[in-house]
Amino acid sequence: MSDTTTTAVTGRINGREQTLQIDNADLLLDVLRDLGLRGAKPSCEMEVCGACTVQLDGLPVSACTTLAAEIDGRDVETIEHLDADGTLHPVQEAFLRHSALQCGFCTPGMVMTAKALLEQDPDPSREDVVHWLEGSICRCTGYATIIDAVLDAAEVMRRAR
Ligand code: FES
Ligand code: FES
Repeated sequence: MSDTTTTAVTGRINGREQTLQIDNADLLLDVLRDLGLRGAKPSCEMEVCGACTVQLDGLPVSACTTLAAEIDGRDVETIEHLDADGTLHPVQEAFLRHSALQCGFCTPGMVMTAKALLEQDPDPSREDVVHWLEGSICRCTGYATIIDAVLDAAEVMRRAR
């Protein structure tokens, strides 16, 4: 009898194609964390806080409400991939320059969301940044330094083009 509760999915995770045998109900966040990719955090687990944000085909998604089966044939990028070449991403460097993190719990999700924004729009307004980060909750920083950091990263990335 065939097993209808599990399925094989093949997706590119942080640039590497991987085939995973998953339960149909598995959530992407759990699968990533089982792979050792623990930057995306479980928190609200209802798509409210943004702590679990990763990029799926370049757009930010809440891994806590995304089925792992949805990555089939697609690209997943997590915070762990950003310094894979040994250098921080400009968004990460800007967060450090602006002290845009305190406890750091929200930071991977914030950075992945900001990176996706800058890939879509290299020259966002302050309002654009606020809009994109609406789904990311930070209990520490008060947000101003995070917004400053994203705008600074945008400028650095534009100058480097
Ligand atoms: S843990 Fe996914 S949005 Fe909060
Ligand atoms: S830095 Fe602590 S929650 Fe954002």
